[in-house]
Amino acid sequence: MEKISSPKFSKPIYTCGDGLRFATPEIVARYRAGRLHTSILADISCGIGGQTIFFARECQKVYGVDIAGDKLQCAQKNDSLYNFGNITFIEGNALSTQIVEQVTDADIIFSDPARPAAETVRQTDSLRPGIPMVLDVYKDITDKFAFEAPPQMPPERIDFDCEREYISVDGKLNRLTLYLGPLKQCERSAVVLEETAFHKLESEDKSQLPEIAEIDEPKTYAFEPDPAVVKAGLLGELVLELKQPLEMVQIDAKRKLLTSDILIDSPFFKNTFQLIGKVPYDCRQINSFLQGTDIGIAVIRFNIAPEKYWDIRNKIEKDLTGGKTAHLFKISRSIYLFENLRTS
Ligand SMILES: C[S@@+](CC[C@H](N)C(=O)[O-])C[C@H]1O[C@@H](n2cnc3c(N)ncnc32)[C@H](O)[C@@H]1O
Repeated sequence: MEKISSPKFSKPIYTCGDGLRFATPEIVARYRAGRLHTSILADISCGIGGQTIFFARECQKVYGVDIAGDKLQCAQKNDSLYNFGNITFIEGNALSTQIVEQVTDADIIFSDPARPAAETVRQTDSLRPGIPMVLDVYKDITDKFAFEAPPQMPPERIDFDCEREYISVDGKLNRLTLYLGPLKQCERSAVVLEETAFHKLESEDKSQLPEIAEIDEPKTYAFEPDPAVVKAGLLGELVLELKQPLEMVQIDAKRKLLTSDILIDSPFFKNTFQLIGKVPYDCRQINSFLQGTDIGIAVIRFNIAPEKYWDIRNKIEKDLTGGKTAHLFKISRSIYLFENLRTS
């Protein structure tokens, strides 16, 4: 066991093995504990307690269960660093009767299961403990379950009724939480976490959603939706909430930008770009467009063979002296040059 300072936590944390690597970061743990605020919660695969210690601040009593004794010892130490001793730690297999019988007063069962390292396609029943097995052995205790699942897990593999909540931190997809039973508030949600605030978008009835027109060229402003919004499939809900004229432009097979002639601010935009020009896809023409401007760096944001990246970028940036950065998107055979007004 060692005590380590990590950007994931505001205080040093006790860890062993892969405990810290798989621990839920404090910013997510605090948010999730707020949402799962209850009297008695059982975290049945608690690891070193990265999430459990924040549940303990929101709940009267918490159980921390783990099959690995060394992890549980770290969790106990972390409880003494962060809390007031309202966690009961139990070592054992969460799927065993012996453990289930010790947490019968829990209102909520939470599990952030271990993920088999060698798996290419994630399955709910190959997580440890497996989600269907947890639902089965705890069904007589409560109908309130929450699970952390790999954010890249295909939705069709989550074959039970639940809310899928995608969380992003610093513009990156960070966590997926599944809420079951009375904990479910909608089908899909996206949460953007900031240090002292969070922003949540929920899925709506399809019939309520606006049609977003797809156009061939971006307008004056282009907005890159946060990955949690994209993953949760909530672009329609975002446009509905913003109540602004927004259209969509396809950047490549996977990416879409929202676009408008109006500058719109939203925490659900990862980046906000302002169009500064359009030129044919030709390095010399792009370079001559940028000569004499205050741009010195050109970030290529379209697919390019990795071995050609610096060759093309050096040609585009040749003899540029400015201090600003341009972001280059390729749509059809043209390059659209943007300045980023907001970086997360
Ligand atoms: C991803 S880690 C949990 C991390 C934790 N949420 C945190 O923030 O520190 C998963 C944990 O599940 C535990 N585990 C795996 N199978 C289990 C089982 N059948 N019963 C209890 N714990 C189990 C592993 O030992 C591991 O510590």
